[in-house]
Amino acid sequence: MKVVASVVIFVMLAVFVGLSRPRYRVDQATSAAHDHRDAESLRGAEAEKTLAQACGNCHSNQTDWPWYSQVAPVSWWIQGHVRKGREELNFSEWRNYSARQRRAKLDSICGVVSTSRMPPWSYTILHPEARLTAEDKNAVCVWATMEIEHEK
Ligand code: HEC
Repeated sequence: MKVVASVVIFVMLAVFVGLSRPRYRVDQATSAAHDHRDAESLRGAEAEKTLAQACGNCHSNQTDWPWYSQVAPVSWWIQGHVRKGREELNFSEWRNYSARQRRAKLDSICGVVSTSRMPPWSYTILHPEARLTAEDKNAVCVWATMEIEHEK
């Protein structure tokens, strides 16, 4: 089923190739200018690796743009997701948030992960590596709780 769904989506995406050009894009040039220290802080703990892998494409400046993210109309949808995702939570901006903001974000991270709201199911069709196991979710919540204590 998973394979069939992926094939169908790829065919649909392929059909859109050449139909039109992206009308707007998240500034992909400047997004490369991310803060390396923040990339560092995303590594380390297992939970942080999980977050970087499962969430980093939408919630950091280190988006790995697949070819189909350049092709309208899929591009509008994907780039809109990344723009909104970064507005809500941007791991590359983590140090610029206040302690209160970080606590609130840590709290919602555990919430959205444990209720499977994030990563969005539509994303995991083409990014199966972003699917979280019960163990991953638990590790993220344990990590978030520890970090919240740390921020107090
Ligand atoms: C495909 C892009 C995408 C991926 C991948 C993704 N998100 Fe999101 N995320 C969004 C968008 C878009 C929003 C804003 C709209 C919404 O709330 O649905 C959002 C909102 C959020 C919010 C704020 C919502 C709230 O109610 O507090 C949190 C927290 C969050 N994401 C955490 C995560 C975590 C943690 C992961 C990885 C496990 C993740 N997201 C993966 C796109 C993404």
